[in-house]
Amino acid sequence: MKTETFTSHPHGMIPNSRFPLLVHRNAIPGGGAQAVKDRFRSNGWSNNWDYPGVYEYAHFHSTTHECLGCAAGWMVFSISVGHSGFTQIRIAAGDVIIMPAGVSHEMISQSSDIHMCGGYPDGRDWDDIQEAFLSDEEYKRACKRIMMLPIPALDPATGKPIAEWLAAPSSVDGGWNEWRSGLDARSLPSSPAAGRAI
Ligand SMILES: [Fe+2]
Repeated sequence: MKTETFTSHPHGMIPNSRFPLLVHRNAIPGGGAQAVKDRFRSNGWSNNWDYPGVYEYAHFHSTTHECLGCAAGWMVFSISVGHSGFTQIRIAAGDVIIMPAGVSHEMISQSSDIHMCGGYPDGRDWDDIQEAFLSDEEYKRACKRIMMLPIPALDPATGKPIAEWLAAPSSVDGGWNEWRSGLDARSLPSSPAAGRAI
């Protein structure tokens, strides 16, 4: 198994995450829906599903982190990580992605036999936020939810603590202080009409 890591930063209406996105290559050799779900569940990532693909529109989750395992076939994600803001990541049977809450993703191409499995730490339920339709207020609330999520106890594929996430700098040490303050900023009411009698 080989692991690739991808970092991200808040941009536009996408919160992204201080935790790197991880791609474990060939984590579950050969894939297979039952094998992938069994592995996720034994490591505490439950509320599992298996389905021929994932959403074909950009979305992120604010209520939970997510793991995605390729049970069969291949697919290409567009994901809001990397220097240019988005990176295309191709996965194939046996690969597992650990998707931090806040990171936007969509399926942009796939094989005809694509089959994917999902899992959520401690069986949390997921929401489905499309950044294209988000108000400022909704964005701030989503960011707050994301920041309160605990680091999952175990990696869904390896069953070990997620060293890359435990070592991730805090949002302050990572240079996100201004962004954090912005989430709490109150916009001042527009100034009262000049000269108005009170
Ligand atoms: Fe997702």
